[in-house]
Amino acid sequence: MSELHSSSDLRPKTERPGASQAAVAAQFIRDHVGYPFQTPVCGIVLGSGLGGLANHIERATRIPFSQVPGFPTATVAGHAGQLVLGTLAGRPVVLMAGRFHMYEGHDASLAAFPVRVMHALGAPVYVASNAAGGVRRTFRPGDLMVIADHLNLMFRNPLIGAVETGDERFPDMSDPYDPALQHLLHTAARTVGVTLQVGVYCGLLGPTYETPAEVRMLERLGADAVGMSTVPEVLVARAIGMRVAAVSCITNKAAGLSLEPLNHAEVMETGKAVAADFEALITQFVRLL
Ligand code: HPA
Repeated sequence: MSELHSSSDLRPKTERPGASQAAVAAQFIRDHVGYPFQTPVCGIVLGSGLGGLANHIERATRIPFSQVPGFPTATVAGHAGQLVLGTLAGRPVVLMAGRFHMYEGHDASLAAFPVRVMHALGAPVYVASNAAGGVRRTFRPGDLMVIADHLNLMFRNPLIGAVETGDERFPDMSDPYDPALQHLLHTAARTVGVTLQVGVYCGLLGPTYETPAEVRMLERLGADAVGMSTVPEVLVARAIGMRVAAVSCITNKAAGLSLEPLNHAEVMETGKAVAADFEALITQFVRLL
């Protein structure tokens, strides 16, 4: 192998957390929860300001991220950093209050690792949520948007490298967000009286928010919302055959679309303001799943 090839940027610099590490984490979690372990109907990740749903989990076992083998410690304000197992609407779920972002310095494969763990616990469905800036000009802070598709402008892919056992080498991305699950989100929303937008989520690395020029570029590229997460998780979920549903909470108008500067406190506050709607939506969705 040439010097150039062996030092290629595409090679994982450290061992990439994959299927075997996920199996170890899943076994630890099963042991921690104890017998009988109920297979989750889905795995849910809660975005910034949306962590309140974790308090609605019944018969909950809460495990700090720091205890889970292979997990780093979450540091960003607004992320409690807990894995919660229990029931929602009477159905077993595994839920993450907090996630690992690439802007924290994590590799894409680590950002997506919890999805592998949820899958190893038996969850067939991955439900992502996030805080996002509204790029579509009609979006208002507090809107909830079903993600119908995404743009990966993180320009990173957690699947680069050797194929993990059980992974698809070339995952089809023509329907990354399961159409039947999108439909189920709309059905759930009607039942609980929540209005849903639909759109394309654009993932950027962050941690800076966008410039107004970047937001205008994203608008022309077809983005409706912009955020700093979710995409690596969805890529892994599709590679391992999980069905994906995802919801963005529009916490602010993206940069340049309002007169206000952006700040993380606003993101958190808006998240909390729509928490009741978000919680009702996801609870009803899980009931229907
Ligand atoms: N841009 C990127 N990420 C975000 C934003 C935003 O405006 N709001 C919440 N997360």
